[in-house]
Amino acid sequence: MNNEIKNIAVLTSGGDSPGMNAAIRAVVRNAVYNNLKCYGIYQGLQGMIDDEFSELGPRSVRNLINRGGTFLKSARSEEFKTKEGRSRAYENLKKHAIDALVVIGGDGSFTGASIFGEEYDIPVVGIPGTIDNDINGTDYTIGYDTALNTVVEAIDKIRDTASSHNRLFLVEVMGRDAGDIALNTGIGAGAEEILVPEEDLGTDRLMESLNNSKKSGKTSSIIVVSEGDQIGKNITALADYIKTNLEGYEVKVTVLGHIQRGGSPSCYDRVLATRLGVGAVDALIEGKKKIMIGISHKKIVQVPLETAIYNKKVFDTDLLRVADIVSI
Ligand code: F6P
Repeated sequence: MNNEIKNIAVLTSGGDSPGMNAAIRAVVRNAVYNNLKCYGIYQGLQGMIDDEFSELGPRSVRNLINRGGTFLKSARSEEFKTKEGRSRAYENLKKHAIDALVVIGGDGSFTGASIFGEEYDIPVVGIPGTIDNDINGTDYTIGYDTALNTVVEAIDKIRDTASSHNRLFLVEVMGRDAGDIALNTGIGAGAEEILVPEEDLGTDRLMESLNNSKKSGKTSSIIVVSEGDQIGKNITALADYIKTNLEGYEVKVTVLGHIQRGGSPSCYDRVLATRLGVGAVDALIEGKKKIMIGISHKKIVQVPLETAIYNKKVFDTDLLRVADIVSI
């Protein structure tokens, strides 16, 4: 037990994700369970600079586990990237006598928090929260499972109308740098093609495959395109290209957008967020600093924050092979 830690603060930063509220709830309750005071910082890292602190107790986080978004709000802070900004943030932490931080967010948020922790010798624990599932050192991030379910439900609906009208739909899903959402929802929703940022399979292969599908008797098609995909960078341009080079289909584009970031978290995300939140406070009590709490093979693990920030998560290329096989 590290007796020095008495007051901790929790914040959410970067793009929000369903389940962040459940993680905050678990952090607050485990802190209070262990006789620590817990503050919430509103507006992410920027809120630390602007002194937006509020003490939270077990009842401040009631009726939250089922709510999407983050009640602490989230923001991306340019000011926190500056030494002056971080120095103001530190003054505010001192004012509230906070001696450790829990940051729920993605690798960008971890980077800022890690620099800050190093500069001012403040223990920092990260909890991976992003729908993209692109954080190294954890099998899953909070919000990813919910986003998958949202996307699959949407594509199922698109499939109904695509097949009624013999249309080809390009469906853009989120994932600026990561294809996990596209790949898994593509398989789950039975897409003909899945385009991801990690692999540029080329337009020739795409056209050949669509032609083969048509010849084999398919009357409609769904292509799931990750927003960061190499050949689908501009989804409308890709749609135009397909229109010009493939006969017999009417081509439509649907961009799912931020609908993927909202909604009530799935049970999986609620449980994951709760376990990670409890794990974060446990780690601080054990005296850990600069780590991320993740999940690996169903077990809660502590990973150096550097591993999460600087190493790229390995992309499961075998899933692409699986997708290829089942889309003949
Ligand atoms: O949360 C991650 C992510 O969804 C990315 O896939 C996407 O590119 C980005 O956030 C968009 O976020 P915003 O609109 O908040 O800048």
